[in-house]
Amino acid sequence: MTSISPLFKEFQIDSLTLKNRLVVAPMTRVSATSEGIPTEIMKEHYQEYSKGGWGLIITEGTYIDESFSQGYRNQPGIANKQHIENWKKIVDAVHISNTPIFLQLIHAGGLIQENIYQKRGIAPSRTELLGKMLPHYFGEGKFPVPMEITKEQIEKTVSSFASAAKNALEAGFDGIEIHGANGYLLDQFLTVFSNHRNDEYGGDIKNRIRFHCEVLQGVLDAIKGKIPVGMRISQTKVNNFEYEWPGGEKDASFIFKKMKSVGPSYVHVSTHKGLEPVWQTRHNLAYYAKKYFEGTVIACGGLHDPKKAANLLNKQEADLAAVGKGAIANPNLPNDIHSKKDNTQFVPEMIRPFATIENTRSWRKKNL
Ligand SMILES: Cc1cc2nc3c(=O)[nH]c(=O)nc-3n(C[C@H](O)[C@H](O)[C@H](O)COP(=O)(O)O)c2cc1C
Repeated sequence: MTSISPLFKEFQIDSLTLKNRLVVAPMTRVSATSEGIPTEIMKEHYQEYSKGGWGLIITEGTYIDESFSQGYRNQPGIANKQHIENWKKIVDAVHISNTPIFLQLIHAGGLIQENIYQKRGIAPSRTELLGKMLPHYFGEGKFPVPMEITKEQIEKTVSSFASAAKNALEAGFDGIEIHGANGYLLDQFLTVFSNHRNDEYGGDIKNRIRFHCEVLQGVLDAIKGKIPVGMRISQTKVNNFEYEWPGGEKDASFIFKKMKSVGPSYVHVSTHKGLEPVWQTRHNLAYYAKKYFEGTVIACGGLHDPKKAANLLNKQEADLAAVGKGAIANPNLPNDIHSKKDNTQFVPEMIRPFATIENTRSWRKKNL
């Protein structure tokens, strides 16, 4: 029988000590104001996690500038003074229970659903993106064909990530996660179907991972080691749950070694369908991240089952287990697991019509 005790061992990310290995995965809750200002209900939401015993909270994807980065209506930003001020209230509230909180920085790229600043997104290439807008984030139909990002815009975007990181530091966050996954701008560069460039950002894996590295370097330079900086990465995407890196393990080896050479505090691998074996091998993506990154790995995907999470840590395929939908279903999950009364009723469907914090609350009242 798998013991759950590895989940409750301390862990160190740089100089930050986490009390356990359970992490709230970044989850968009579209509950900010229309100007992206964090709200009171968001404060209560993140406070629920801090009281629930999590070792670390990673916030929802937060847009970095008032230009092209916003993806969803009511998504929060970290691009101006008011954003910083209101995030600070959330950070302070979460810190009351001594829980560290990292801000996830996102640029939506071509996956714009509704954006108060722009009608069309920018992406590596002017090509229609797969999939459809997410109805639970107020979208409908195909994504508008994005404009091709220029070299100048690439440089500007790297600076926007760097200034957003400085804003996060000012708001008191304990760390920063760069969203390099799930089909958004960085991942659009890495993915063959959205990147048809023939300059140094397109073509082989060496070029397609360049933008991740430049953004990471820009943020590391801005933060100067004051707080941890991590990178999230995935094969699957909100607009394609099936995608795999075409070079399989060879790509993974290149990507994670390259990441290591730039030097984030951790990599965070995510998958939409649970941590299943990849490329017809016996191993999942976290295993390959650990093998080639040779540093701290957070894994995410179906880890609300404590035995599954503990097993992953026991096998040393990851250091930390991030939980998404299971955390929405039960913000008190770590405390419940610890006191062996986990009664999480995990219902994947709940996140579709109930994307906002308010709707999740009424769903919980009725169903749990
Ligand atoms: C409602 C919701 C919102 C999400 N928003 C984000 C996000 O802002 N950033 C991100 O990196 N992943 C996001 N994800 C993906 C999750 O972090 C996680 O990778 C995914 O749900 C798989 O983990 P799970 O099986 O524990 O739910 C979101 C997932 C859900 C369910």
